[in-house]
Amino acid sequence: MAGSKKQAGEQGSLVLPTHIGIIMDGNGRWAQKRFLPRSAGHRAGAQNFRTITRYCSKIGIKYLTVYAFSTENWSRPMEEVGALMRLFKEYLEEALRDFMDENIRVRFIGDVSAFPSELQELIQEVEEASAPKTGMVLNLAMNYGGRAEITRAAKAFAQDVAQGKAKPEDLTEEGFSRYLYTGGQPDPDLIIRPSGEERLSNFLLWQSAYAEFVYFDILWPDFKTKDLDQAIAIYSSRQRRFGGV
Ligand code: FPP
Repeated sequence: MAGSKKQAGEQGSLVLPTHIGIIMDGNGRWAQKRFLPRSAGHRAGAQNFRTITRYCSKIGIKYLTVYAFSTENWSRPMEEVGALMRLFKEYLEEALRDFMDENIRVRFIGDVSAFPSELQELIQEVEEASAPKTGMVLNLAMNYGGRAEITRAAKAFAQDVAQGKAKPEDLTEEGFSRYLYTGGQPDPDLIIRPSGEERLSNFLLWQSAYAEFVYFDILWPDFKTKDLDQAIAIYSSRQRRFGGV
């Protein structure tokens, strides 16, 4: 849903994005630089995820989507995938405690049915417990891929057509976006990718059509709240034209 910058909240003279997406990249390199196992990088990344999430909520961001595990991440060594699963479990238990106090609603985007059953139960618990929260919406992209999300939405629409609930000729972009995991939420205004890589890597493919991208040559565990402030300042200084002049 493209809106003008004027629709976003304001902080001083800054224009705050309504929705921020973050690709939390560089955990492995952070660990490698310190001669630590990659899992130590993910742990440091998870701690930073908590800090940045709370900060976003504090400054008035309405939606935050973080890329925690992609559909392609299963191809990593079994040991690393196992370490990530344990970390997700631990941090989701923490999320239950401290995000709840901060009125954050946690949602999961991606095919969570592929996760171990214990983790799936926790995911459901976090979603249900935080559903009444009225503050920032935190979307955790887990086993998420933009193409998989669009394919899933197309299948759901086709099923609705087959059951006579929808007509192909009536389909609009906005109507289609309701079939996505993020249905009903505004599109991201700003997407941040630390670690020096400058690509989208299958993150929010449909939703990022008009997002502003800000890249940082900083590894995710080293990405501080002041860097987020800088990303917002860069975003705020850009002119968004949404295809107009
Ligand atoms: C990419 O860095 C990061 C990941 C694949 C995992 C991100 C997960 C976390 C930060 C934990 C978050 C926890 C919760 C509960 C959401 P990389 O390993 O690709 O780094 P590299 O490119 O330097 O190897």
